[in-house]
Amino acid sequence: MDIITIRNLKKYYGSGSSQVKALDGVNLAIAQGTFTAIVGASGSGKTTLLNMMGGLDVPTEGEVTIDGVKLSGLREEQRAVFRRKKVGFIFQNYNLVPTLTVEENIFFPLDLDGSRPDEKYLQEITTLLGITGKMQEYPGALSGGQQQRVAIARALMMKPPIILADEPTGNLDSKNGQNVAGLLKMTTELYHRTLVLITHNLELAQLADRVVSMQDGRIIS
Ligand SMILES: Nc1ncnc2c1ncn2[C@@H]1O[C@H](COP(=O)(O)OP(=O)(O)O)[C@@H](O)[C@H]1O
Ligand SMILES: [Mg+2]
Repeated sequence: MDIITIRNLKKYYGSGSSQVKALDGVNLAIAQGTFTAIVGASGSGKTTLLNMMGGLDVPTEGEVTIDGVKLSGLREEQRAVFRRKKVGFIFQNYNLVPTLTVEENIFFPLDLDGSRPDEKYLQEITTLLGITGKMQEYPGALSGGQQQRVAIARALMMKPPIILADEPTGNLDSKNGQNVAGLLKMTTELYHRTLVLITHNLELAQLADRVVSMQDGRIIS
C-alpha cells in the first residue's frame, strides 16, 4: 500500500522573470514501511518536497495524499492536527526547545496533543537511542549526535506512521552521522515506520530501499 501519493505537484515562488519553480510537476508514490532517500543538488527542491509531504507547506498545484487523506481538503488547523498524528519531523539543526529538558522535549508533541506518554515505549526508544541518562539535561549540554538522537525519540514518541528527515546528519561528523543514520533506520524499521530522508551523503543513501534523485524541481530518477 502507498502511504504517500504525490500527483503533479508544483510549487512556484514569485512571478514573472524572477519566478522560481521549486517543484515543477512531481509524481511520487511511497509504499508503507519503506525507507526512501531523496538526493540532489542544493536548490533542487528536496526540502520543498519534504515539507509538502508533511503538510508544512501548500502547493501551487497538484495533490498530496497521506494515508488516504487529501491534504488540500484540510483547513490549516486540521492540517496541524493531522501532521502531529501522522508525521514525525527530524531537521538538520535538531530543532529542540533549549529551555526544556530532554524529557520535556520528547514529550512536547504528546503534550500538544493532550496524549499520555507510553512509559514502556519511552523506555524502549530512549534505551535504543542511548539517551536514558540524559533525560534531565538541557539540549545545550548535549553533543550534536546526542541532540539528534533526542530529536529521533521526539519524532517517534507520537508513533506516527511517517518519519520525514531533512539532512539529519548534515551537522554531524561522519562517525556520528553514520551512528545517527543507523539508529534512525533501525528504529523506523523496528516500528514499521515509513522513512523519507534527504541527504547529500551517498553512502547514507545506500542504506535506503529506494533513492529518488531531484534536479530543478523534478524527479529525474
Ligand atoms: N520560501 C521561499 N521563497 C522563495 N524561494 C524559495 C523558498 N523556498 C525555497 N525556495 C527556492 O526554491 C528552490 C528549491 O529550494 P529547496 O526546496 O530548499 O531546495 P533543496 O532542499 O534541494 O536545497 C530554490 O531555488 C530555493 O531558493
Ligand atoms: Mg534543503
